[in-house]
Order: sequence, then structure tokens, then C-alpha cells
Amino acid sequence: MKHLLSIDDLGREGIDEVLSLAEQLVEPSGARDKASAFAGKTVATLFFESSTRTRVSFEMAALKLGARILELDVGTSSLNKGESIRDTSQTIAEMGVDALIVRHASAGVAQQIARWTDTTVVNAGDGSHQHPTQALLDCLTLRQELGRNDLNDVRVLFVGDFANSRVVRSSVQAFSALGADITVVASPTMHPSDMSVWPVTVSYDLDDVIGSQDVIYSLRPKTERLTSGAVMPSTREYIIRYCITLDRFARLGENVRIMDAGPVLRGVQMAAEVLDDPRCLVNRQVANGVPTRMAVLLTLLERSHHLPVALSQKGVDV
Ligand code: CP
Repeated sequence: MKHLLSIDDLGREGIDEVLSLAEQLVEPSGARDKASAFAGKTVATLFFESSTRTRVSFEMAALKLGARILELDVGTSSLNKGESIRDTSQTIAEMGVDALIVRHASAGVAQQIARWTDTTVVNAGDGSHQHPTQALLDCLTLRQELGRNDLNDVRVLFVGDFANSRVVRSSVQAFSALGADITVVASPTMHPSDMSVWPVTVSYDLDDVIGSQDVIYSLRPKTERLTSGAVMPSTREYIIRYCITLDRFARLGENVRIMDAGPVLRGVQMAAEVLDDPRCLVNRQVANGVPTRMAVLLTLLERSHHLPVALSQKGVDV
């Protein structure tokens, strides 16, 4: 596998392979073993859309593997002079980078860059389409929490803006590949055009379903992705219908887990106290971003085309 553009690229076997490696890298000794794996390599981050967690954790992951980081500052780049994304990404690739980490507000941009360049591309989020490394770190977090490698019969409830979320698209695929039983609660305005293709049960009322779940995964209303209208008439209505309030939280068991990819809208998606509760895994998800992204980079690059193929073809042991 040269690129990671979608959870589809991995399947169950690939997910297990990356997560097993990530689990080794969570251990200080595992990370130490790989500290110079990428010596001499350069990882470039091309973030055409805002990010805190994903960009910084990819950079941290690359640094922990001994790579150099090349960060394209989109705001001061020649994109502002009208250069295309194709020419910009080819320009960076031609400088000899080993991987391009790409985020863009439009679906399909990472895939296009993978076609336009010879370099390994990792999709760090493309519009409402995919965020595969988020799904992997979510799976890692649940595997650690539950102490097992599968999610068979684990009841996961996604709450909120399904239509505009790349996180839900990736994580539903990954969680269902691991066996989870998934419910989505969202108003019809927050549904994608065809819900029938999703391996999920649909609900419209959070209070009907919240008490019977093992995991509640909150989805931020993606106002930045709305081209027309809003998913809800008002923030107040969103809070009434979809916020994990203290009242709702009080109805949950001691073993429930609360997840959110972040950034979290405090008081809109969940009460501030919920975020601070030990049952909330948001900080664990963030921490797991680093070993997961190290594992993805190692999986893609350790056996990649950038190894000295010419030498191996001459029979030299590389
Ligand atoms: N979860 C996530 O993608 O967060 P950022 O937008 O901060 O990278």
C-alpha cells in the first residue's frame, strides 16, 4: 500500500496491522526502537484547511521517527498568486519529500494529489469524505479501553451532524469492520442523501437511545462546511436535542465512554463537566494520534518505493 486515502484502503486486516503496530509504539520502548527509522526522510504537511490535532500529531509522529518536517505555510504560499493545488503539490513533491500529509476542505483532493505526484500521500481529512487516521486512533482508543482487539457487539451511538462529517464516514467503516453495532441519532437535515447504504440504525431522538449505549461519539456541527442553510434552526435547538447535558450524562452507566474527534464545542455538544469526566476519552484520543500516525507512516514508508530499489535489483541486501 503506497497511500492512505480512505479506511477502504485498509480493510479489517490492514486496520489490525496498523493498530498492532500502534499498540507497540504506545510503549516507550517501542517508540525508542523506531526513533531513527526515518533518518534522512522528509515528511511534508500540506494543510489547506485549519487543524490543531491532526497537523501537530503528524509532525510529532514524524519527529519521533527521526524524519524532518517540511510545513507548507498555505497563507504565505504562491497559492495566493493563483498557483493551482496541482502545481503546488508537485512543486513540494519534486523537492524530494517522502510523504505528503494533505488536508483540504474539498473531498477528493488528497486522492488527486496522489495521482499527480509519485510521493506517498496520507489523507489528513478531505471535506466531508474521509479522515482515516482519526478512525484508526479511535479504534486504538476503544481497543485499549475495552482490553480486546475487536468491537463485537459494542453499541456505539454517533450523535449530531452526520451529513457533513468525514469523521463519522471513516469511523463507522472502521468500527463496523471491527464488529460494532452502530446507531446514529441526527435530524433528517443532518443525514446524508442516502442513509440506506450505511451499516447503522437510525434514530431521531437522543433520549430514546442514549441509555442503552456503550460508547457515545459526539459530532460537531460543521458550520464551516455548509454551503446553504444550517443543519439546525438555532444553536439552542441543537443543545436541546443533541447536547450531552448533565441530565443526560447522569442517566449513563459507570462504564459508558464518551468520544469526540475534537475540536469540541463546549456547552453545545456536551457540558463542560462531561469533558472533564474520566469516562470521556477525548484526551486519550488526542494522545493516541501520535502512535497511530507513526504506525501509518511506518506501514506506508518502511516498505515503500523510496527504499533503494535499484540496489536491491542488483542483488544488494538492503
Ligand atoms: N480531529 C481533528 O481532525 O482535529 P483537527 O481539525 O484539530 O486536526
